[in-house]
Amino acid sequence: MPLLAEQSATLQQEFLPLLGTDFVEFYAGNARQAAHYYRTAFGMRLVAYQGPETGIRDRASYVLEQGKIRFVITTALRPNHPVADHVYRHGDGVHGIALRVADAKAAYSAVKTRGARILSEPTELRDQSGVVRMFSIAAYGETVHTFVERDQYEGVFLPGYSPLGPDPLSRPAGLKHIDHMVGNVAKGEMNRWAAFYEKVLGFRLYQHFDDHDISTPYSALMSKVMANGNGRVKFPINEPADGLKKSQIEEYLDFYQGPGVQHIALATDDIIDTVSRLRSQGVDFLQIPSAYYEALSSRIGKIDEPLDQLARLGILVDRDDEGYLLQIFTKPVEDRPTLFYEIIERKGSQGFGKGNFQALFVALEAEQARRGNL
Ligand code: FE2
Repeated sequence: MPLLAEQSATLQQEFLPLLGTDFVEFYAGNARQAAHYYRTAFGMRLVAYQGPETGIRDRASYVLEQGKIRFVITTALRPNHPVADHVYRHGDGVHGIALRVADAKAAYSAVKTRGARILSEPTELRDQSGVVRMFSIAAYGETVHTFVERDQYEGVFLPGYSPLGPDPLSRPAGLKHIDHMVGNVAKGEMNRWAAFYEKVLGFRLYQHFDDHDISTPYSALMSKVMANGNGRVKFPINEPADGLKKSQIEEYLDFYQGPGVQHIALATDDIIDTVSRLRSQGVDFLQIPSAYYEALSSRIGKIDEPLDQLARLGILVDRDDEGYLLQIFTKPVEDRPTLFYEIIERKGSQGFGKGNFQALFVALEAEQARRGNL
């Protein structure tokens, strides 16, 4: 796709131009069953696989897609394996966020010069469909960023993966792309990781929330949203702030055993349809107190969507100067209260739902109390 003039001007100014998110890799205890959940509940399509049948002896990986979203779910086939160790410590969760670049070699020297901790040197993978170049660096906790150059690759995912036919299980729900991915870090570490994204990856501070924006009498959090130059990649970084009880961020850090990806926001352009489908396919969302909807229309004014449908589905709305957004949060998708999802539809607003933080925190704490962790 040809770049617009202003996009290419932005790219030239950046030392690390990113074309977007390439894939998110999860490490799971049972990748086959996790893939089944993402296919039937979230509607993703299984498109490729690697494992013993394709000559990989120590692990199996399932590649799932919907719109521009690509997830890879990997499991270890034996103990004493880095994937098994990761699952032992963190439970199922995000191991890596892969970012697409036009030139992996240039990206490598850019981030290395700027102090990135290199986890794997640039490698070239080839098969009959072409060539992919990639390398990885460390981010917060055990999370990694992999950089992928794939302009000369026409295969389904990466060399070594077998493409699969149409997926009879997939039930698409209208999910289009990743809007943002949030990391939780320990108290006092937010600024350090915001600075990492600024210095090493050339991101800028996009928005900032403090504990006055996001707090209840019990718990609070602070967040800095970091974004790349073209705004396609947004990484909010959360840290817990002081509260009377354990915050949801501390609960996450406790159960994940350290920093990691807290939630992934998936964009739709018809949130009522998407959430109706996801609910009927078994995705569990946070319960929003009905009082939220009584106060809603005076807070946000006129919107296109019928309020009764939003209330029935539990969808939240927030407005700012640029427009409004609709969003909803799932419960954690693992038994450990760690990773969850947000479904978001933007109607002009480029915010993150600041006006909903209060209502959300109340809902999250109710869940936390039910788990005995508040
Ligand atoms: Fe979010």
